[in-house]
Amino acid sequence: TVLYGVIGDPVRHSKSPTMLNRAFRESGVNGIYAAFHVKPEQLQEAIAGIRALGFRGLNVTIPHKVDVMACLDEIDEAARSIGAVNTIVHDNGRLIGRNTDGIGYVRSLKEEAEPDLAGKKIVVLGAGGAARGIVWALNREEPSAIWLANRTWDKAKELAGSFDGGPASRVSALPWEQVRDACAEADIVVNTTSVGMSPHIADTPIDPSWLKPGAVASDLIYNPLTTAFLRQAQERGCRIHGGLGMFVYQGAYAFEYWTGLPAPVAAMREEVLTSFT
Ligand code: ATR
Repeated sequence: TVLYGVIGDPVRHSKSPTMLNRAFRESGVNGIYAAFHVKPEQLQEAIAGIRALGFRGLNVTIPHKVDVMACLDEIDEAARSIGAVNTIVHDNGRLIGRNTDGIGYVRSLKEEAEPDLAGKKIVVLGAGGAARGIVWALNREEPSAIWLANRTWDKAKELAGSFDGGPASRVSALPWEQVRDACAEADIVVNTTSVGMSPHIADTPIDPSWLKPGAVASDLIYNPLTTAFLRQAQERGCRIHGGLGMFVYQGAYAFEYWTGLPAPVAAMREEVLTSFT
């Protein structure tokens, strides 16, 4: 039996074990996946344990995604660019840090809402850790513009600056006062802030009526599955994309890196949805 798991603090609400164990069963992989509560001061020892016990793979969640990088042998390009690791692959005694959050989000967006991102205008609301991974992955799809808007201007500027590719750079910081005009032009508006998360389910990060009908409203939040932002955008004639897909596909990429098999995405999604009810 091959060992897998997730480390975090807290970790007991993680839906990764049920989702990945279902994926293993579905694909006939002889693996088992468990959640481990690891406090920050135990991180190094926990990673040494992964090596010693021969775990094949590990997911890493809050608050370890940045600090774990110092414990690994190699960091892939995605994780290096984003500055965080959410997936470790144990290969021939080497621990390789990868990041599947951003690419998981983009795969979900393309599968579920908008197959072609090239040339699109995208507004990203929020400039925290989640936004960084998503902007990195969106930028690789060659949209025409990514406008970053955040309550705290300095963080938007800092994030946009880290993607600066010169005057023609697609990623730019957008003053909050200009969000309304940008949304009226945008093909896709993504909420990466925590506004609308349970229990504050009536809140929206912006007025959804700013979006043009037919645009995609996307939200990283998956509790609730459909936020007020998405519901109101849908009423306005927008296509909507919820956060559950990002969770499913970040796990799907991890499964694929570990096993080399295509992830049973439909079964994984079904399993997570079941655990919600
Ligand atoms: P995550 O890793 O989920 O992105 P984070 O790094 O704490 O979490 O970032 C949270 C994001 O939500 C930030 O962009 C934050 O804005 P600030 O940089 O101004 O703090 C945004 N956010 C949180 N609460 C908000 C609110 N009430 N209104 C607007 N933005 C909010």
